[in-house]
Amino acid sequence: MSIVICPPSGYNPFHFSRLPLGRVHVGAPFAEGMSDHRIAILPGDGVGREVAEEAKRILDTIQAHTNHGFEQVTIPCGGQNYKETGEEWAEGSFEFCRDEADAIFLGAIGYPGARLPNGDLAGGSVILGMRAGLDLYANVRPIKLYEGVPHKVHGKFTQIWEPGMVDMTVLRENTEGLYHSLLRRSADRALGREEYVPPEMTFPGLEGEVAYDPRPISVKGTERLVRMGFEIAEARNGAPEDGEKRVSCIDKSNVTRGCQLFRRVFDEVATSYPSIGTDHGYIDAFMQWLTRTPEYYDVVVLSNMFGDIATDLGAVLQGGMGMAASGNVGDHNAFFEPVHGSAPKHAGQNKVNPIASINSIQMMLDWLGRKNGEEELVQIANLIDESVAEHLRGGKLLTYDLGGKATCSQVGESISSILSAKLTNL
Ligand code: IPM
Ligand code: MN
Repeated sequence: MSIVICPPSGYNPFHFSRLPLGRVHVGAPFAEGMSDHRIAILPGDGVGREVAEEAKRILDTIQAHTNHGFEQVTIPCGGQNYKETGEEWAEGSFEFCRDEADAIFLGAIGYPGARLPNGDLAGGSVILGMRAGLDLYANVRPIKLYEGVPHKVHGKFTQIWEPGMVDMTVLRENTEGLYHSLLRRSADRALGREEYVPPEMTFPGLEGEVAYDPRPISVKGTERLVRMGFEIAEARNGAPEDGEKRVSCIDKSNVTRGCQLFRRVFDEVATSYPSIGTDHGYIDAFMQWLTRTPEYYDVVVLSNMFGDIATDLGAVLQGGMGMAASGNVGDHNAFFEPVHGSAPKHAGQNKVNPIASINSIQMMLDWLGRKNGEEELVQIANLIDESVAEHLRGGKLLTYDLGGKATCSQVGESISSILSAKLTNL
């Protein structure tokens, strides 16, 4: 993919002084009276680069029809970038995302054979480095089934779950748990710190070479995640089954100490939200309930690795990974990304589903609007949701993963044009 090279004219060059010129693409200057938002666009690897184009198209569409302007700063990054340049991203990129961007979009990270000398995923500084280095403690992953979306099982497309019966928000802890060591190492690289090496442990009864990943779970990390879960439940309409607001704590507290702490903290936080129902489940059993009675779930909180795994299954209920959007959210920063990876075998063919990315932009605008008290951005986020729903209800122009033949850009264009009409009436 060619990166448009455009010097950042018209802006305070200070903002870009730590990024080498020529690596940064800045969009057109804003007209007066516009509310401007600086968005870092990190296309990353594989299909991430294609879906990022559709994310940008949505921002361009909003800019064209409202007073909200988006200065889009594209930062090349990821495993392929590492292979080509020796860097996961240009020096200063992390600081730019942290200090200069109002919000961040990430396409996908992961390129075949791209590993760092220490064996870690090349591009990890971007995705994991930001999660840990920006303290983005909640990975918010909505699981919602739109009308018109079929489920692919046994190679056939059929409607298994009912639209309206699948609508929950999953919160995956994003800074600790089984990912802790890798997160820490990735943030160390992003921040230029010395690399963290976990303490040596011995394992009585085990012989020969042993590899291990400590799974620390803290009260602080759990508390803030669970609190956000209850706050989100307050803002939602409850579970599809009965309209009851409910937060489910999913763990393995019959086995692990970390999960016992997680559940204890959950119960403590729950006492501050007496009007919201609670529920407890073990992760193994939850895998069954998620597929059989998804309508019961409103908000679900889980530790890091459990959340990673559960949300891929959750994506099946939504119609596949191409439909699954997410936000990595902290108290100050956030980045938004489709849950699917870089899918190297589909890359460069303009065929993947951009809806996960478009809905990630929806989440971004909702987050920005609530954070800055800009009600209209929240409304625009709702209009993106309606546009996606309308596009899917139409049943035409679906990508291959939903049984259609449409290209990635055709779907992006269709949703953007529906959105344009809605924005004109805003
Ligand atoms: C995700 C991905 C990442 C993760 C990978 C790419 C490191 O699977 O965002 O779910 O494991 O968190
Ligand atoms: Mn994952």
